[in-house]
Amino acid sequence: MELSGRAALVTGAAKRVGRAIALALAGRGADVVLHYRSSASEARVTAEAVERLGRRAVTIHADLARPEQVEALADGAVQAFGTIDVLVNSAALFYRTPLEKLTGEEWEQFLRVNLTGPFLLARRLGLLMKRRGEGKIVNVADIAGMRPWAEFLPYCVSKGALITLTQGLAKALAPEVQVNAVAPGSVLLPEEYGEKEREAIVRATPLKRIGDPSDVAQTVLFLVEGPDFITGQVVVVDGGRSLA
Ligand SMILES: NC(=O)c1ccc[n+]([C@@H]2O[C@H](COP(=O)([O-])OP(=O)(O)OC[C@H]3O[C@@H](n4cnc5c(N)ncnc54)[C@H](OP(=O)(O)O)[C@@H]3O)[C@@H](O)[C@H]2O)c1
Repeated sequence: MELSGRAALVTGAAKRVGRAIALALAGRGADVVLHYRSSASEARVTAEAVERLGRRAVTIHADLARPEQVEALADGAVQAFGTIDVLVNSAALFYRTPLEKLTGEEWEQFLRVNLTGPFLLARRLGLLMKRRGEGKIVNVADIAGMRPWAEFLPYCVSKGALITLTQGLAKALAPEVQVNAVAPGSVLLPEEYGEKEREAIVRATPLKRIGDPSDVAQTVLFLVEGPDFITGQVVVVDGGRSLA
């Protein structure tokens, strides 16, 4: 897909990886709807960065755990630029949940934010894309969706299911819409991680570095702009860590 003059919605776009994806899409000519939940001022700063690239930006708030807010986000995004050609589901809930302490409410919340929210957006916008005859959806998963970590079970299950959702939607929205996933390894550590955690990850990574948000953003661009004959795939972007 040629991105110039297209409209994209990126969730969790105020900062970190979502911001890098939004700016990469804008850099290729797309107008961008920037979704955020709590990071309103960062979303505004990202919108200004999109505008400096010569593209239009709109920020929309939504809690992805609330289906009515997700539907309103989809409606608002379509209204903003008349259509949405590209959806990138990047927002996610991520924190450690040891089995003994994990509550049922936490379990549900991970699935609501990381799976049901992306599903509702992809269904609503994907069906509109299908009707229009083209569109691209990219879900940001995680290598932990394929090789789960014991201390992050609901996160890993949500990402594993997001991969299955990607494969199922690729069939359900074919042939008009291509649906793919990116599965990053560590590209931007949570702010509370220290040097010890960083070193352990680098040791376990054949390419001997943490990734960069641009590694994910470049992969999203490939899946959006590259061959239309790719659908239902998961591109692992982890410096080889999942091979170890
Ligand atoms: N960072 C990594 O190394 C890494 C590795 C593997 C996979 N990933 C995946 O890549 C994506 C982006 O990573 P990241 O590190 O940039 O993510 P992040 O900083 O952990 O979260 C991204 C955004 O998700 C939004 N979010 C959280 N709960 C929400 C809710 N209930 N409703 C709506 N939005 C909500 C937050 O928006 P607000 O700030 O506006 O509240 C947050 O800024 C995620 O899907 C993540 O799982 C990241």
